[in-house]
Amino acid sequence: MSILSGVSEFFGLDIGTTAIRLVQLKGNGPVKHLAKYGYIPLDSRLAMSDSKPDQLKVIQAVHELLGQARITTKNAVVGIPSQRVFTTVVDVDRLSPKELAKSIKYQADSLIPTPLAQSKLDWALLGDSPKDKAKVEILLSSVPNDFIEQRLDLLEASGLNVIAFEPDNLALARALIPAGATGPQMVIDIGNKTTDIVISVQGGPRLTRSIPTGAEAMVRTAAQTLNIDDKQAQQFVFKFGLNKDKLEGQVYNAVIGTIDILVTEIEKSIKFFVTRYGESAKIERIIVTGAASVLPEFPLFIANKFGISAEIGNSWRNVAFPADRQNELLAVSNHFGVAAGLAERIE
Ligand SMILES: Nc1ncnc2c1ncn2[C@@H]1O[C@H](COP(=O)(O)OP(=O)(O)OP(=O)(O)O)[C@@H](O)[C@H]1O
Ligand SMILES: [Mg+2]
Repeated sequence: MSILSGVSEFFGLDIGTTAIRLVQLKGNGPVKHLAKYGYIPLDSRLAMSDSKPDQLKVIQAVHELLGQARITTKNAVVGIPSQRVFTTVVDVDRLSPKELAKSIKYQADSLIPTPLAQSKLDWALLGDSPKDKAKVEILLSSVPNDFIEQRLDLLEASGLNVIAFEPDNLALARALIPAGATGPQMVIDIGNKTTDIVISVQGGPRLTRSIPTGAEAMVRTAAQTLNIDDKQAQQFVFKFGLNKDKLEGQVYNAVIGTIDILVTEIEKSIKFFVTRYGESAKIERIIVTGAASVLPEFPLFIANKFGISAEIGNSWRNVAFPADRQNELLAVSNHFGVAAGLAERIE
């Protein structure tokens, strides 16, 4: 979905439901240096609201953030919330790049849920199809034009020049998965309202899922069952998490319903993946971020459940920075996966 190419300076912009975040990198080598980063909290109603006054508040917040982070370029690569994106992996005939583009366009209407005329289509060649030697597999994604146009209006009103849009989950995979990983890797990002799952093989996302539940649901249930306000519930949830021994398991009981929904989806994703790529396609590692990396015992719980090692992701793993900034940056790592991945794009 690149609108311009060859742009030298740009930043990655993640408009989440709890905050807006940005990351700008500099340099030309394979590992770029951190130039700037920043975030500004957002009322969780605003980011998804269609109302004009709410959108003005988002524009205002973007302005403030650009000022705070001392951003001077107008060029932005912008994340698209995964729940607005339809992504699928399909097998198509092996053709020349030009013919392939034509063929995909021709077939697209039967592959995406929205009418082609009302959708922005994007695709990337992944490699040989695991099912048919004569075919290649491609990652196809589509976003409704309405959403893209609304976002463009908002960002242009913020004085920005959008050089590309990219689904959040693809950016996450780029930032968090080790470049040298040979086996399949899974990323789980528990956001406020949605949880993203990605399975990637050698840098190519093969499966993405967006589940409409996240930290907010856990906090709300905890508030109700423990009969406390949301702020206290938030503190309890992120203090005790899935530890059954704390508070007589009351926090565990409050969050486990949401966790079970996620576990079911992870299970389905693994099954789907194995069905397509075979038993040898065993997930090597699960990388967690967002609320998943600060919810006590979540990585352990997932590792035990699936018998796959789980670790907390480092959003800055592909970014160079001075050693004395290590603590500051790692403390916010769980919030910056999307923005860092967008900034790491090669335009
Ligand atoms: N260190 C922490 N302590 C307490 N709560 C946290 C912490 N980190 C994240 N959270 C909570 O976890 C949730 C996920 O945070 P994240 O920054 O990923 O949300 P988001 O990107 O704004 O949400 P979404 O992707 O759904 O739009 C939020 O509800 C946030 O309040
Ligand atoms: Mg997010």
